[in-house]
Amino acid sequence: MLRENISLKPFNTFGIDVNAKYFIEISSEEELIKVLASKKNQEKFILGGGSNMLLTKDIDALILYLNIKGKEIVSQDEASVTVRVAAGENWHNFVLWCIENDYGGLENLSLIPGNVGTAPIQNIGAYGVELKDVFISCEAIHLKTLKKRTFTLSDCKFGYRDSIFKHEIKGEFVITAVNVKLSRNNHSLNTSYGAIEEFLNSNEINTPTIRDVSNAVIAIRKSKLPDPDEIGNSGSFFKNPIISASDFKKLSLKYPSVPSYKLEDGKVKVPAGWLIEQSGFKGKRYGDAGVHKNQALVLVNYGNASGSEVLKLAEKIQKTVAEKFNIHIETEVNIIK
Ligand code: EPU
Repeated sequence: MLRENISLKPFNTFGIDVNAKYFIEISSEEELIKVLASKKNQEKFILGGGSNMLLTKDIDALILYLNIKGKEIVSQDEASVTVRVAAGENWHNFVLWCIENDYGGLENLSLIPGNVGTAPIQNIGAYGVELKDVFISCEAIHLKTLKKRTFTLSDCKFGYRDSIFKHEIKGEFVITAVNVKLSRNNHSLNTSYGAIEEFLNSNEINTPTIRDVSNAVIAIRKSKLPDPDEIGNSGSFFKNPIISASDFKKLSLKYPSVPSYKLEDGKVKVPAGWLIEQSGFKGKRYGDAGVHKNQALVLVNYGNASGSEVLKLAEKIQKTVAEKFNIHIETEVNIIK
């Protein structure tokens, strides 16, 4: 059903109040194809969980709100199971369902806001695991030709918060389902991340299960990251910048306490949260836009901030970090201008 002139505030986790001129909820692939065929010449805007976007203006394009549901087991053997999950399923509910069924692989990705369909676009990741580690393929419909295409792991060209869907074919496809391969026993847990280890030790868990790891991740995220149901936000607003080894050497001479992760190619990833905190922004508030008090990488909307106010704050942060450290921090969130 077509709805006109509705507020998008409930449809984006930042809680930004902009107007949608035309809005259609899509609950099946058939419906998607029908709508695309009947609105051929209209510009489209695909909306999933709205968890990785900053809306800075009203949307005149036809919004297709992807709410396709369903989970099915495609195949399984002793060791593993392949699950096909529809784009409109809530990501965290899907993770919990996997844990309920003792399917391992996604426990470190607990409590990430958003829907399944947007997970491949930015190759969601947390605590040492990325979607690509369990990803088999995703199914997508081409907006113009209406043809269905399956993208394999290599087709997706996954990188750090990155994929082909952000570059070569940006805006051309709607992802309708994702296939992941999960373990059924002998789960290989990834508990190397410091805060996970600390949680397990302090709760005296010596032989953790996937549920224990999920609980650890949930506790860590709750302690650091604001709940979008309480304070509007889109998780990490910026990506952690990657700099050359020689630039890192200079940086660490000046700031010996700078945290870092060495990458395989010799480059170094520096936490943007640290750069922003050192630039004095942590916990700062400008009107209803602000920088979260426990994690400087997260920008927040205390209630009625506009997208432009948040964007202005983001630009101020980028400028200050560039002046202080000579490092450009790129936005991770998709800015809709
Ligand atoms: N740090 C600070 N000040 C801050 C925040 C962080 O100094 O305000 C320092 C910490 O001391 C720590 C380092 O930065 O040494 C790393 O912080 P954290 O463990 O919180 O991780 P992050 O690098 O800031 C990334 C992801 C998160 C993910 C965590 C855990 C990106 C852009 N963000 O954050 O992803 O949950 O690692 O794996 O890569 C998201 O994408 O929305 C998200 C929350």
